[in-house]
Amino acid sequence: MAELDAASAAVVARRRAQGAAGEDLLGLLLRAVDSGDLAPEGLRDELVTMVIAGHETVASALTWTLHLLAQEQGAQRRVAEELDAVLGGGDERGGRAPAWEDLRALVRTRAAVEESLRLFPPAWVVSRRAVAEDVLDGVTVPAGTTAIISPWLLHRRPELFPDPEAYRPERFEEGLSRGARTAYTPFGAGPRLCIGRDFALVETTLVLAELLRGASVHPAPGARVRVDALVTMRPRDGLRLEVRPR
Ligand code: HEM
Repeated sequence: MAELDAASAAVVARRRAQGAAGEDLLGLLLRAVDSGDLAPEGLRDELVTMVIAGHETVASALTWTLHLLAQEQGAQRRVAEELDAVLGGGDERGGRAPAWEDLRALVRTRAAVEESLRLFPPAWVVSRRAVAEDVLDGVTVPAGTTAIISPWLLHRRPELFPDPEAYRPERFEEGLSRGARTAYTPFGAGPRLCIGRDFALVETTLVLAELLRGASVHPAPGARVRVDALVTMRPRDGLRLEVRPR
């Protein structure tokens, strides 16, 4: 707790020293403090929430995407073709660095992330506590019940995602069926939908493009990947990959 407190205090002190609050999320929160809408402890809580919710989830998503692309070289080649076309590959550095303006064209790269979020949703379970009795699809749910929703299971329903265990990013390029769109919940759903969803998809797509524009990934010889499902889902002993220039 002390480390988190110190880290968030340092971020705030640095920004305060610059004078203007700024136009980003921190700036908005600082203005809310200045106008009395947010207590200083509330600011600390918001910052810590953003770091905790936005750090390991994104790292986990990128880790599993690299794992899947290493396993499925065909899918990885399709991403590489796109990166070469969009970023001007061919030279030994794999073209230029991806930028915000490239996002619309990075269709396959984004689909590679979305399909990975289907098979390995970092938030593999989401839970809710019933504040009052309710009836869900004919089932009475008493007040106080903990309901657990598992994106991991929803994402593997064969009637919605044919051949569900296969890593096939094309699903997202072709467009999901309506039912599949509803069941696809790596970022949750409804009023508590992940506030960082769009940011996360931009971030992961651009980072993946940067990692793979000049390199390819392959399973490390002898490495075994086992899933540890804790708060987020991660490979038990880390992910060992062979990285080759391409
Ligand atoms: C691939 C990356 C991410 C995944 C898989 C993910 C997943 C989720 C899920 C499933 C929820 C809903 C939890 C629930 O309904 O109980 C959630 C909520 C949330 N996420 Fe994310 N998230 C990601 C990235 C981020 C980022 C980058 C940020 C911040 C910059 C963030 C901030 C939050 C916050 C603040 C909430 C709570 C929203 C609320 O309750 O109103 N997440 N996330």
